[in-house]
Amino acid sequence: MDATDVGAHWEGNAETWTIYSRAGYDKYRDALNTPAFLDMLPPVAGLKGLDLGCGEGTNTREVARRGAEMTGLDIAPTFIRYARETEAADPLGIDYVLGDGQVIDFPDDSFDFVTAFMSMMDMADQREVLKGIYRVLKPGGFLQFSILHPCFVPPTRKNIRDETGEAVAVQIADYFDEADRIDRWLFSEIPAEERAGLTPFSVPRFHRTLTTWVSMIIEAGLVIEAFGEPMASEEVALAEPVVADTRVAPIFLHVRAGKP
Ligand SMILES: C[S@@+](CC[C@H](N)C(=O)[O-])C[C@H]1O[C@@H](n2cnc3c(N)ncnc32)[C@H](O)[C@@H]1O
Repeated sequence: MDATDVGAHWEGNAETWTIYSRAGYDKYRDALNTPAFLDMLPPVAGLKGLDLGCGEGTNTREVARRGAEMTGLDIAPTFIRYARETEAADPLGIDYVLGDGQVIDFPDDSFDFVTAFMSMMDMADQREVLKGIYRVLKPGGFLQFSILHPCFVPPTRKNIRDETGEAVAVQIADYFDEADRIDRWLFSEIPAEERAGLTPFSVPRFHRTLTTWVSMIIEAGLVIEAFGEPMASEEVALAEPVVADTRVAPIFLHVRAGKP
């Protein structure tokens, strides 16, 4: 699958994704994943950052609010349009550009850091993405990214629940299958009556094993500094029961890697 195909899938998702994520239905992102990512992020005030696969920009804005001078890049024009509209209404100094993360079009050593929130498993050629990130990072800069956890969310995953509906185990399969795939789903908390009228997201996914991810990071010249596997606290799981399954096994993997 090439970038044009991937971009077309995301362009088809962008309108519904933006409306429902901004309405608070991306519960995993808002209740768990982004807060954990930001907790792991080193101080960025005064630094120049690139957010790769920025979508409609919610997470880019969070990083900008920490004082970074941000550029957001995404392959889907509708996401970039929404992000720019929000920037125009409430400026944070973010520059949003349309582009392909596999061919990052910035000069060498342009950024102090790069973030990629839940976007790199959606890019087909992660080797090229990582090489591009290395190139545009200044020496001493870092990349921090989140992805679906390669070990616990491989192509096939099923929550095992007890008689009360509580997630108690996870069944996984196809861990070593790195074939391109298209996942179809909607944010699970969207009410049934609204779901009926929506076309499910069509998400190209390029699963890689943990070994492949670590090899690609090392081959790019980056040095792994930190891993994170966010788990919902008891309080968060009570407030947002949909994320309680992260107390059984992680759904997300966070990685920070530096350019020496
Ligand atoms: C799961 S969404 C995450 C969006 C946003 N980072 C967030 O956390 O809300 C994945 C994003 O990656 C973008 N994307 C996928 N492939 C891309 C590519 N090759 N280059 C740039 N962006 C890409 C999609 O358009 C989409 O916005």
